[in-house]
Amino acid sequence: MALRNMVIEGDERLSKVCRPVTVINDHIVKLIEDMEETLADQNGVGLAAPQVGVMRRIAIVDTGDGILDLIDPHILETEGSQTGVEGCLSCPDRWGVVTRPMKVTVRATNRKGECYTYTGEGLTARCICHECDHLDGILFTQKAEHMLTPEEAKKYFNEDRR
Ligand code: NI
Repeated sequence: MALRNMVIEGDERLSKVCRPVTVINDHIVKLIEDMEETLADQNGVGLAAPQVGVMRRIAIVDTGDGILDLIDPHILETEGSQTGVEGCLSCPDRWGVVTRPMKVTVRATNRKGECYTYTGEGLTARCICHECDHLDGILFTQKAEHMLTPEEAKKYFNEDRR
């Protein structure tokens, strides 16, 4: 495994629609392993392939229940809504208030080539939506109702840790 370089906001690759994967070969498996290592290194909860410069429909999510491989993901169903503070590894020190579904059912393929359906709630649902958006060239900053000022962000994180 190896760490990959992060693509940062302002890079046009983050606003492009990614291509489907269709065939999972060693190259794709290696990419996902590298993304997993990169995500852990960055202390994140989700990472999409365009964030490491690969324009394919691949993302991973890890909100504490193990890694979820999202290859060619499709959101089948959403339920409810949640409004909360969100960030992105490609947008360092930027935080915004985004409304997302509370519950999401996604169909995707994992790195073994198995097609599966998964339902996630809360942070996992938020993360699945955020990563799927990346594959369509959409950043959370475009969906944010409000971007936190540095003062608001500081206050938010102080309160969060209490
Ligand atoms: Ni992101």
